[in-house]
Amino acid sequence: QQNKAWSGRFNEPVAELVKRYTASVGFDQRLAEFDIQGSLAHARMLGAQGIISVEDVAAIEHGLGEILQEIQSGAFEWLLDLEDVHLNIEKRLTDKIGDAGKRLHTGRSRNDQVATDVRLWLRSVTDDVIAGIRKLQLSIVDLAEEHADTIMPGFTHLQVAQPVTFGHHLLAYFEMLQRDAARFADARKRINRLPLGAAALAGTSYPINREMVAKELGFDGVCENSLDAVSDRDFAIEFTAAAALVMTHLSRFSEELILWSSPRFAFIDIADRFCTGSSIMPQKKNPDVPELVRGKTGRVNGHLVALLTLMKGQPLAYNKDNQEDKEPLFDTADTILVTLEIYADMLRGIKVNKTNMRQAALEGFATATDLADYLVKKGTPFRDAHEAVALAVKHAVGKGCDLADLSLEELRQFSAKIDDDIYGVLTLEGSIASRNHIGGTAPEQVRAAVGRARKSLV
Ligand code: ARG
Repeated sequence: QQNKAWSGRFNEPVAELVKRYTASVGFDQRLAEFDIQGSLAHARMLGAQGIISVEDVAAIEHGLGEILQEIQSGAFEWLLDLEDVHLNIEKRLTDKIGDAGKRLHTGRSRNDQVATDVRLWLRSVTDDVIAGIRKLQLSIVDLAEEHADTIMPGFTHLQVAQPVTFGHHLLAYFEMLQRDAARFADARKRINRLPLGAAALAGTSYPINREMVAKELGFDGVCENSLDAVSDRDFAIEFTAAAALVMTHLSRFSEELILWSSPRFAFIDIADRFCTGSSIMPQKKNPDVPELVRGKTGRVNGHLVALLTLMKGQPLAYNKDNQEDKEPLFDTADTILVTLEIYADMLRGIKVNKTNMRQAALEGFATATDLADYLVKKGTPFRDAHEAVALAVKHAVGKGCDLADLSLEELRQFSAKIDDDIYGVLTLEGSIASRNHIGGTAPEQVRAAVGRARKSLV
């Protein structure tokens, strides 16, 4: 069967293998609902401008309505011979309503049609992604509030650095996701422009009304250059870049959940329903979900590179290369949406072992900086204080104990300025409470940050 939409000028049918190679209906049928929305708006505009008759518009509306139902119920028969979602729907419409169906494509090309479909679809996905980020942020804030006072070691170089609260640590991810949500909201502004009217590349000679179509489809405006409208996919690249950053943030978070749930750390326990066992080692409970999030980050990063590479060598205007934008973009959307959902649930199922967190903070000289700051407050220059404390740490390492286990006499070997009020400074609680400024780890600040975070989510 020949593709009647364009086979007029051909002398032989397209090779079977080529048909399969060039067809996109296997994956672009997910744009169907948006393709119909776009066609309805286009047809109504053609009618309003007197380009087609009101009877034709009514027939098109009726026919497309039926087709939408057929698609939604699964009754619609997608044909590879009809190449893509657009030609499948148009052919079905013509079978149903005859000549009126053949008039739908007046002043339109699949080039501006597909760009419109993708933008409509992506706008809706972007809204879902932002909602998914918000839901995850709420999980984070709830957990952070519960652990505003829970002490754990903060790390640099994965070595114990200074004590922090678990709540403070969690809120770092809240901030990353806050910027992520803002990136999607900003990308949405550029997604939400109407390509229709650009036709194949140069515009159309019919007296169309693009603003009317834009308004009906909820676009903020029209793409202002027809060549640009049909050929650039920068909006899809931006979406994927924003998604890659979300995944990258969650990949870092996952790495921490994996470490923390390992028996060596034993800071947290991930609920059984988010883990799996081993078929050979009966004792195992593996953190599969965070591991897969970390793994799927590679996949989304790959899609970003795929889309950038797809675009980079294309001359203006439309080239069939652009058909290859869909699978990476669809998979990016699917991956990020399900990842956000599963992550929000997983965080709600985390059990925290405060004792182990606290114990780990006690073990790595986490309050050494506090001792140095104490000496500075008593008049010692910071560099000298740093040196004195380093020697004290060396001494404690030699004895196999912590700074707070050294006697006052021993401590005074390193600085005569040390008095017995030092033991208050060396406690974990004293250390965190003293970092009491905006952005600091003091429990009071964590609670204030939780308050601000909640406000930003409503
Ligand atoms: N399936 C095509 C795509 O995804 C639709 C546009 C085809 N246009 C064309 N001139 N062949 O880009």
